[in-house]
Amino acid sequence: MVKMTHSSTTFFTKIVLFLILVVFFTLSPVADARPATFLQDFRITWSDSHIKQLDGGKAIQLVLDQNSGCGFASKSQYLFGRVSMKIKLIPGDSAGTVTAFYMNSDTDQVRDELDFEFLGNRTGQPYSVQTNVYAHGKGDREQRVNLWFDPAADYHTYSILWNHHHVVFSVDEVPIRVFKNNEARGLPFPKFQPMGVYSTLWEADDWATRGGLEKIDWSKAPFYAYYKDFDIEGCPVPGPRTCASNPSNWWEGQSYQQLDPIAARRYRWVRLNHMVYDYCTDKQRYPVTPPECLAGI
Ligand SMILES: *[C@@H]1O[C@H](CO)[C@@H](O)[C@H](O)[C@H]1NC(C)=O
Repeated sequence: MVKMTHSSTTFFTKIVLFLILVVFFTLSPVADARPATFLQDFRITWSDSHIKQLDGGKAIQLVLDQNSGCGFASKSQYLFGRVSMKIKLIPGDSAGTVTAFYMNSDTDQVRDELDFEFLGNRTGQPYSVQTNVYAHGKGDREQRVNLWFDPAADYHTYSILWNHHHVVFSVDEVPIRVFKNNEARGLPFPKFQPMGVYSTLWEADDWATRGGLEKIDWSKAPFYAYYKDFDIEGCPVPGPRTCASNPSNWWEGQSYQQLDPIAARRYRWVRLNHMVYDYCTDKQRYPVTPPECLAGI
């Protein structure tokens, strides 16, 4: 009798466990499936005919020719989070082209914006990545690094982490720029406005390559850039109102509040070896060093 009860309890427990597992495995991968397909999170904003979906929408091809460039944007805006995608840039002679990947509040007066801009170059010359940060309407904070690999030979991951503590621009998990929240010192930080995620491919040969000296060579057109592994994790707006201030969002966690020692070392390595322009040290442009550039900040 005792034995019977015992084994039937075990049987019952097994059924419950089995059901929990079934529910877990059917629901959770669907709810958290990342990366998403292009059309799940994005829409084309400029020139339908110049953006082609590949691999069932898991990747896209952007085209720039003499008729047009193109662009896309996220369907939602987000308040804090991390956005990342893999990009393969235009190979060969890409001088005069700009591929941009950025977040923008889409507000004219007090714009917040976080930019990655990939500036093309002549065959064999290094691509530069320009980053910029607009906080409460003020930008003009350009920095440029030369990439330590050929970004057109393969896909590489570009990401923006944005939380209450800082904004970190990374390339293959290597931080190339950190913009800290220095509100305590009275400096503006993007915190109040949600931002959309955008990308464009266009012609900018009046400034992009060697300050506009190198013009686009249209005989090499069309130019192609490729994107895949679209991943946005953040608080969509409109959405649950408490999301953005919820401290248990993973991107607000302890290990994302400052660079860990490995990331900090990589960041120093980039700044020492790959930085080609920094507004912070451009004395002609800023005789007085901008406050966010001061040591220790
Ligand atoms: C292009 O190559 C030249 C020569 O190596 C270099 O000075 C420049 O920084 C590179 N990038 C751009 C965007 O001009």
